[in-house]
Amino acid sequence: MSKGMHPIISSGLLLGIIALLGTALLAGVNDLTKERIVEQEKLRVQQQLNEIAPLQSYNNDLLEDVMEIEDTDFFHHSAAIPVYRARLNGQPVSVVMIVTAPDGYNGDIRLLIGINASGTVLGVRVISHRETPGLGDPIEAEKSDWILNFAQKSLNNPDSSGWAVKRDGGEFDQFTGATISPRAVVKAVHRALLYFQVHKLAIFDAPANPEVRHD
Ligand SMILES: Cc1cc2nc3c(=O)[nH]c(=O)nc-3n(C[C@H](O)[C@H](O)[C@H](O)COP(=O)(O)O)c2cc1C
Repeated sequence: MSKGMHPIISSGLLLGIIALLGTALLAGVNDLTKERIVEQEKLRVQQQLNEIAPLQSYNNDLLEDVMEIEDTDFFHHSAAIPVYRARLNGQPVSVVMIVTAPDGYNGDIRLLIGINASGTVLGVRVISHRETPGLGDPIEAEKSDWILNFAQKSLNNPDSSGWAVKRDGGEFDQFTGATISPRAVVKAVHRALLYFQVHKLAIFDAPANPEVRHD
């Protein structure tokens, strides 16, 4: 009887080793790809934040100085709300919150809402939505200037009855044949301001949470 390994066993072993090596290689590539995606995602968020929070107004790392609000009842949505905090030499300057309006025509509208420490809106941008092209999509800054109207607004400007579309007696325009999308955005921005007014100190005091996802 031969003392060597049976050919079936040895080729099986070889195949096993090849499969293991292949898996390890794939896992490595996968990790690298994931890292790159996370980095690109961060870059994208940073660019969006820069559009709203003036770079010269703060000197901390916004992407690191992030906490999360979870208040499903208040925001009418189960999504946690990442809040990026801008500080100048440690002093609160502004926040940028990612809020989801639940009541667009086709569901969620994700918004980036910048608010300065005294409660004035720095700016609002739509990150994602499924509203109908040509009807609801003028909420995008790329499609119309409508969303730029939030800059400089606050809870006193306009007062609470003004925080609605004109159709509902407020001061924000709706679009021709499309009231639902702008209404959802106006309500979400108003809600963010109301929340910030009450919880401002807690928002700035909360420890940074490295687990917060940036999407
Ligand atoms: C196929 C279809 C898609 C629509 N998409 C939107 C939309 O994305 N956003 C929106 O506000 N209204 C949309 N509407 C219109 C709404 O159903 C609703 O009539 C409108 O928002 C009310 O506006 P009005 O009060 O100015 O008529 C859509 C209607 C239809 C038939």
